[in-house]
Amino acid sequence: MYEPLLKPFTLKSLKLRNRIVMAPMTRSKSKNHIPGEDVAAYYRRRAEGGVGLIITEGTVIGHKAAHGYPDVPNLFGDEALKGWSRVVDQVHQAGGKIFPQLWHVGSVRQTSIHQNSGADNPGHICDCQGEKIPGFAPSPIPHPHVENGEVPHEMTLEDIEEVIEAYVVAAQNAKDIGFDGIEIHAAHGYLIDQFFWSRTNKRTDRYGGEFIQDRTLFAVEVTKAIRRAVGDAFPIGMRISQWKMGDYSAKLVETSEELERFIKPLAEAGIDLFHCSTRRFYEAEFPGSSLNLAGWVKKLTGKPTITVGSIGNDIDFVAQVQKAEEGHKTLETVSRLAECLEKGEFDLAAVGRSLLADPNWLAKVIDGKADAIKPFSKDLMSELY
Ligand SMILES: Cc1cc2nc3c(=O)[nH]c(=O)nc-3n(C[C@H](O)[C@H](O)[C@H](O)COP(=O)(O)O)c2cc1C
Repeated sequence: MYEPLLKPFTLKSLKLRNRIVMAPMTRSKSKNHIPGEDVAAYYRRRAEGGVGLIITEGTVIGHKAAHGYPDVPNLFGDEALKGWSRVVDQVHQAGGKIFPQLWHVGSVRQTSIHQNSGADNPGHICDCQGEKIPGFAPSPIPHPHVENGEVPHEMTLEDIEEVIEAYVVAAQNAKDIGFDGIEIHAAHGYLIDQFFWSRTNKRTDRYGGEFIQDRTLFAVEVTKAIRRAVGDAFPIGMRISQWKMGDYSAKLVETSEELERFIKPLAEAGIDLFHCSTRRFYEAEFPGSSLNLAGWVKKLTGKPTITVGSIGNDIDFVAQVQKAEEGHKTLETVSRLAECLEKGEFDLAAVGRSLLADPNWLAKVIDGKADAIKPFSKDLMSELY
């Protein structure tokens, strides 16, 4: 029944042993932004558990306003890169492949985070050496999902160039230390998604506009600049979503025609693999077709796609993480996944909480040992299990 999960997959220089991807999950366990031995062991366990590709937690690019959360790893600077190099080696030794997820949080960052900064502080948030740096965003609009959020700095054309350069440096760093590709985080209401979204992008220059295709230019330029730096053979993925952290009902596009206008410029700019983030992969994206977001993006662009959302665990993930709701596991969603993979609706499937809870989730599913799967629990959020 699960055979479609186990078929190998090739994309340019990337060869995966199967179709299961570990979804990016921020763990806030990299003190001073450096992923340590424990982080390497955490990823190695998932590779040993058999997943084909690991997409790391969000890793911050080298721009002064990119950070928004404590102890999130950097993808620049000698020490952090040494740490990542150890992670890459461990995952490769266990037969897995790994992409870092490149992240800038945009207006999610609040100037008040400086109260927590400082090298000796256990909840270290930024590299700003005490300088008070606000969130950066396409328009001076507080993030709709940050409570009492500040008005962010409206990015100038110079800021845009600087941020693009920071993405390029991070991508080049990733290639240099042996990552197998990269994923640009353009989902969930962070910086790139803030450019996509009409609610947060009110710019009147070429980076804004009435239509979704007008608001893709920033992401297009990031993609093209990275492509120029890393060459044609290195896979570049992009994670997109309709929903935002804190709002599952948010939408960038309402129809498949609008989706096409959004996604085509990104595919043409050089994205090889779209990671289509949804709450539940088994829900149709638009009326009149059973295709989900990953299904539509594959159909409209001809590019491979990754689906994600509630595989093996169909409880609301934000509630589970924030309120530590009880664990849950289900294999019905996995059977459904196998059918969609078999039909070729999408190419890969990312698994989040199920793999956080149990590094051997895939092996246990395949061996029919559902009872032995460890469910998601609150303790997992405080440990690097
Ligand atoms: C603890 C935790 C941290 C997360 N951090 C990120 C992140 O850094 N980047 C991202 O794109 N998604 C992040 N997500 C979302 C997951 O990648 C995934 O889309 C979500 O958990 C739904 O998949 P699941 O139902 O299999 O858990 C996070 C999810 C969890 C549970």
